[in-house]
Amino acid sequence: MEDLKQRVRKEILQLKPYIPGKHMEELKRELGISEIIKLASNENPLGPSKRSIEAMKRAAETAHIYPDSYNYHLKKALAEKYNLREKQLILGNGSDELIKLIAETFLAEGDEIIMPDPSFSEYEFASTLMGAQCIKVPTKDFRVDVNAIRAKIGPRTKLVFLCNPNNPTGTIVTRKEMDEFIDRLPGGTILVLDEAYCEYVTSDDYPDGIEYIRQGKDVIVLRTFSKVYGLAGLRIGYGISSEEIIDMIQRVKEPFNINSIAQAGALESLKDEIQITRSREMVEKGKKYLYHALTHMGLTYVPTEANFLLINVNRDSQEVFQELLKRGVIIRTGDIFGLPDYIRVTIGTMEQNERFISALKEVLLKLTNSAQKRASS
Ligand SMILES: Cc1ncc(COP(=O)(O)O)c(C=O)c1O
Repeated sequence: MEDLKQRVRKEILQLKPYIPGKHMEELKRELGISEIIKLASNENPLGPSKRSIEAMKRAAETAHIYPDSYNYHLKKALAEKYNLREKQLILGNGSDELIKLIAETFLAEGDEIIMPDPSFSEYEFASTLMGAQCIKVPTKDFRVDVNAIRAKIGPRTKLVFLCNPNNPTGTIVTRKEMDEFIDRLPGGTILVLDEAYCEYVTSDDYPDGIEYIRQGKDVIVLRTFSKVYGLAGLRIGYGISSEEIIDMIQRVKEPFNINSIAQAGALESLKDEIQITRSREMVEKGKKYLYHALTHMGLTYVPTEANFLLINVNRDSQEVFQELLKRGVIIRTGDIFGLPDYIRVTIGTMEQNERFISALKEVLLKLTNSAQKRASS
């Protein structure tokens, strides 16, 4: 083992394996439960649109042929949707892959990236992999502190990652804040704006990252088919930037990173406006219900612009997680984000939300009772 450690790149030893949300099948096996709800990875419980499913079935018929490495139809559709040129687009095997490709394109040892803390862990993973330094700037009252981030930008800062709305807090950087931040971004620094949850935002103050690209700013916008489009299992996301920046990232990409079934499913999902509207409405309704129920339970939460909610459970979130798990509800603990008293919960269908609240009530009561018993014995 020691010998092996000498042989791998030193950056590899610094990487912590990604801890994925618990898979439903795994849990069913472990606990012998048949009905499980997964509210841990901000997926869309409505699933893919029917039109997407049909398109994927058709694409399966030609699975013996390599996929289109240019992603022609999808790029064309996205370029039309956003009024961009196709060369301003790159498709990734999930936006996860794009984060890694961007790091591989721009980062080397001695470089720095800046990201908010807490935020999406892949930014740190990708920069560490490339031997770059990751500077984490704490959020302020759960909001990304753009002024503090700006203050940290130095000559080595190649990339700043901003997740808007931020995962796990669900808060947004407003248009005014973003305008000012981008206006003062120094020449050598590119802003990567991860807008994985943008379709769920309802605030009028939310900036559309693509506008900055139209203005010629050094910005890369990342979006995904995994969230509102309900296609997380296909692994497909896209990046938007200037033709020059996209050309550089394109050089690093594997030719066939997007399989043909994913291309077909994603393309069709763009056309299904009804599915998107239904998904947004579900989250809005769910959000109102959860806010009300949590307030009634005396719990606080961070108001969200995304399809997840950060809740203060006032006790070790690992305990809450384990107890919820026994009741067939999978959530995320806040300890991975440095928030041990918080849980992050995906807003689901009304049935799922109700089940979550009823399980949470039971769990908190049980944990309070056992704490009291311990204290009095
Ligand atoms: C902020 C953020 N960016 C990117 C991703 C990854 O999305 P994809 O499934 O497209 O890789 C996630 C997934 O949870 C996310 O929360």
